[in-house]
Amino acid sequence: MCGIVGYIGHREAWPIVIKGLKRLEYRGYDSAGIALISDEGLKIYKKAGKVTELENFAAGKNLSGTAGIGHTRWATHGAPSDRNSHPHTSNNGKLTIIHNGIIENYATLKEELKTRGHEFKSDTDTEVLVHLIEEIYKNEKIDLLEAVRLALREINGAYAIVLMDEEHPDQLIAARKGSPMVIGVGDGEYFIASDATPIVEYTKNVIYMNDNEIAFIKRDELLIKRLDNVVQTPYVQELELKLEMLEKGGYEHFMLKEIFEQSRSIRDCMRGRIYPNEGKVQLGGIKEYADKLKNIDRIIIVACGTSWHAGLVGEYLIEEYARIPVEVEYASEFRYRNPIITEKDIVIAISQSGETADTMAAIEMAKERGATIFGVCNVVGASIPRLTHAGVYTHAGPEIGVASTKAFTAQVTVLTLMAFYMAQQKGTLTNSKLVELLTELDCIPDKIQVALESNDLIKEIAGKFKDSRNCLFLGRGSGFPVALEGALKLKEISYIHAEGYPAAEMKHGPIALIDEEMPVVVIATKNSSYEKVISNIQEVKARKGIVLAIVTEGDTEVRKMVDYCIEIPDASEAFLPLLATIPLQLLSYHIAVLRGCNVDQPRNLAKSVTVE
Ligand code: AGP
Repeated sequence: MCGIVGYIGHREAWPIVIKGLKRLEYRGYDSAGIALISDEGLKIYKKAGKVTELENFAAGKNLSGTAGIGHTRWATHGAPSDRNSHPHTSNNGKLTIIHNGIIENYATLKEELKTRGHEFKSDTDTEVLVHLIEEIYKNEKIDLLEAVRLALREINGAYAIVLMDEEHPDQLIAARKGSPMVIGVGDGEYFIASDATPIVEYTKNVIYMNDNEIAFIKRDELLIKRLDNVVQTPYVQELELKLEMLEKGGYEHFMLKEIFEQSRSIRDCMRGRIYPNEGKVQLGGIKEYADKLKNIDRIIIVACGTSWHAGLVGEYLIEEYARIPVEVEYASEFRYRNPIITEKDIVIAISQSGETADTMAAIEMAKERGATIFGVCNVVGASIPRLTHAGVYTHAGPEIGVASTKAFTAQVTVLTLMAFYMAQQKGTLTNSKLVELLTELDCIPDKIQVALESNDLIKEIAGKFKDSRNCLFLGRGSGFPVALEGALKLKEISYIHAEGYPAAEMKHGPIALIDEEMPVVVIATKNSSYEKVISNIQEVKARKGIVLAIVTEGDTEVRKMVDYCIEIPDASEAFLPLLATIPLQLLSYHIAVLRGCNVDQPRNLAKSVTVE
C-alpha cells in the first residue's frame, strides 16, 4: 500500500507532487507528506489524514523547489499520526526518504543503530532505513548511490523508495523490490510514482522499474543499475493511459462512474478476442500454452477479496464448459500451506492491481514447484503480470474506487473467455454451441446497460435498507459468488455487517438470524436452481425476513412472494454473474451514500494490499 511520487526538473515540484498524491490516494489515506528541495534547503510538510489536510496545512507556506518527493500512507508500523507520516529523515536531517512496503528486519537494525547513537523520531520501519543509509554513507566514505545500494542489500522485505539529499539537491535516488515504481521521462525532467497515473499528464514515456533495481536521477541523467551493481539499459515504453480515465467525468464518485462504465469495459475486455460467427476465442496472451491446456488435470485459482469471488465464478465456468477440475484458493492461505502442486498444474492468479502481496507470494511458491502461472490482471505492467508465465489483461481501465466493481466484471469476462478457450482446445464444446454462447456473450454489454437502468429504483430500495445493521445475501450455483461479492461490497463501503451464503446452506445456521428486521438479498433469476431458490425464499418469508430478489425480467412468481424486486435481462446461466452483480453494486453504493460514508475511500482500506 502507500503511494509515492517524486519530481525533479524545471517546474515547481509542489503542484506536481500534491496532484500525484491525490491520484494515488486510493493506495492509502492515513497521512500525507511532501519534502521539497530548493536553494533554501530542505522543507518537509506532513500531516495525518488525507492529502487535502496536508494541502490546507501547507497553504501560505513556502512551497518552492524544483525537486520534491511525496507520500500517501496506509499505516503498517506506527499509528497514523503526524510523526509517523513520511517523509522521514536521517539522524542529521539531511537525507529524507519516502517508502512503500515493509522492512521486515527493521527492529534488529534499529537496535544496532541506536547503539551507534541514532535517535528515532517515529515508530516506522522506514525511518530505520534512512538512518541505515546515513550510517553507511558516513562510515564508508562512498557516494550516496553506493550507500543506498549497500543499505538495501541489508534489508529484508519489500520496498519502493525515493531519497533526497539536502547536500545534493540536483539528484533523486529511487529503488524497488516487491513494490511498484514507474519513472516518467520528460524533457530535462523526471517523474517517479507508484503507478503511471500521476505521470500521464506530463509525459507518455515511462520506464517500469524491475525488482532489485536502483535509479540515480538528475534533471538530465538517468542511471539504472541492479543491486548487484550491473548497469541496466532502461526500456522506455509508451503509456496507453488517457487523462480522462482518471477523472470522475461528472459522476459524484469514482465508484458510480466505474459501475456505469461496465458496458464499455466488458466490451473492451472482449475486443479482438471473440469471433461469434466462427465460434472462436483467441487469447494471444496464453496461446503458447494451447497444447498444454489440452492435457491438464487441474487448475488452481489463487486470489484475494473480490478477485477470489471472480475465481469462484471461473471455477464454475471452467468445470462446466472445459471439464477441467478447478480449485479456488485464498492466496493468503495457499501460500502458508504445503499444497500439492505439480508441473502439470496451471495456476491462475487473479488481481486487479497486480500487486497484492499474498497473491504474489502464492505465485512465487507455485512457480518454484514447477506449475505454469497465468495472470488475470487489470493494471498493465504491474508486478503480477511480470511474475507470471503468461496471462490475459482485463482492460477495464483504471479502477480508482477502493471497492472493486468494473474490475470484477472484467475478471469474470476474462475467465469466461478462458473457459471457452479451454473448451475449444479440449473439444468439450461443439462449434455450434460455441457460436451460440459467444453470440450471447457479445450481447452482454447491451444487457448490462439495461441492468443499469434500474438505478433509480435501486436508490429508492436503498433508502429502506440504509439503517439495517445486518444483511444476508443468498445465491446458488454461479449466483453464490455473486452473493459473496454483494455482501463484500455492502460491508466495505457502508460498514453494515453482511454475509454471503449458498442459499441452501442458510438452514444450517444463518436462518437463526432471520427476523422481521433482517434484509435478505436473494439471487433468484431463472436458471437451473430457480425452483430451489424459491423454496429458500419461502423459508425466509416464513420467518418474517425482508426479501429483496434479483429476478429475470418479466418474472411474476418471485415478485408475488417478496418485498422488493429488481429485474435483470434474461441470459444463460454462464452470464448470470455479469448481470446479477450490477444491482448489488448499485445497492451498496446508494446505501453507503445515504449513510454518509466515504464511498471511494472507505475506512481502514486501501486499493492495493501490498502487505500480507
Ligand atoms: C474489493 O472491493 C476489495 N477492495 C478487495 O477485496 C480486493 O479485491 C482485494 O484486495 C484484491 O485485490 P487485487 O484484485 O488488486 O489483488
